[in-house]
Amino acid sequence: MDGNGRWATARGLPREEGHRAGVAAVRRIVEVVPRLGVDLLTLYAFSSDNWRRPQAEVDHLMRLLLEFLETDLPECIERGARIRVIGSRARLGETLRAAIATAESATAGGRDMEVRIALDYSSRDAILAAAQRAATSNTLTREDFARRLSGDGSAELPESRDVDLLIRTGGESRLSDFLLWECAYAELYFTDTPWPDFDETHFAAAIRTFYTRQRRFGGLPAYPSQVRSAQTRQYAEYWLR
Ligand code: IPE
Ligand code: MG
Repeated sequence: MDGNGRWATARGLPREEGHRAGVAAVRRIVEVVPRLGVDLLTLYAFSSDNWRRPQAEVDHLMRLLLEFLETDLPECIERGARIRVIGSRARLGETLRAAIATAESATAGGRDMEVRIALDYSSRDAILAAAQRAATSNTLTREDFARRLSGDGSAELPESRDVDLLIRTGGESRLSDFLLWECAYAELYFTDTPWPDFDETHFAAAIRTFYTRQRRFGGLPAYPSQVRSAQTRQYAEYWLR
């Protein structure tokens, strides 16, 4: 979710306003997630490298996250969304940690979609932590390893899943330490639209593009029956047309 700061600066507003508008964009997108056939959305909210920002901006971002978890919780429950946080919790404030725990347990029954918030997240750290936890196993499979991947082991973390589509807004074309293992075969979608302007139309355009990509996973084009289960009917239709 990149481009909040530049969005604000371009309007003569403080960067904080960009982050506020970014939260509004999150609300808009979460609303349409199930309708677009997406069952898991991971939002890169705060990377471990974002601690390098001025303290005031970091504090503001943490406050916004707390606010989101508190005020949007009833709506998330109503929408059948399961909220989970990946990353490290060790450096977060106690109030935020408590709000995360509350949101995770209150939405644990959510079945219509999962929304993961990557917070103090670094994929390299996650891979390193998984490697350390896996070090005693001598029959480690990719699946075993992936199961250990979502964070630093300090909390009950969800199993990692391969990314089908990675969207980066704000004009940069890089992964910035996000889900590196999980993105091995992700379709990458980079757009100049800054995150605060990203809406359901942009989201649908990204998903439409995803369905036009031919995913071969290193093999040859598959028939619909061989297509992995995470891909939906539309994808099969693309093959059949
Ligand atoms: C992304 O917007 C939001 C977070 C990292 C939390 P930026 O704050 O990176 O916005 P730009 O890149 O400065 O425009
Ligand atoms: Mg940025």
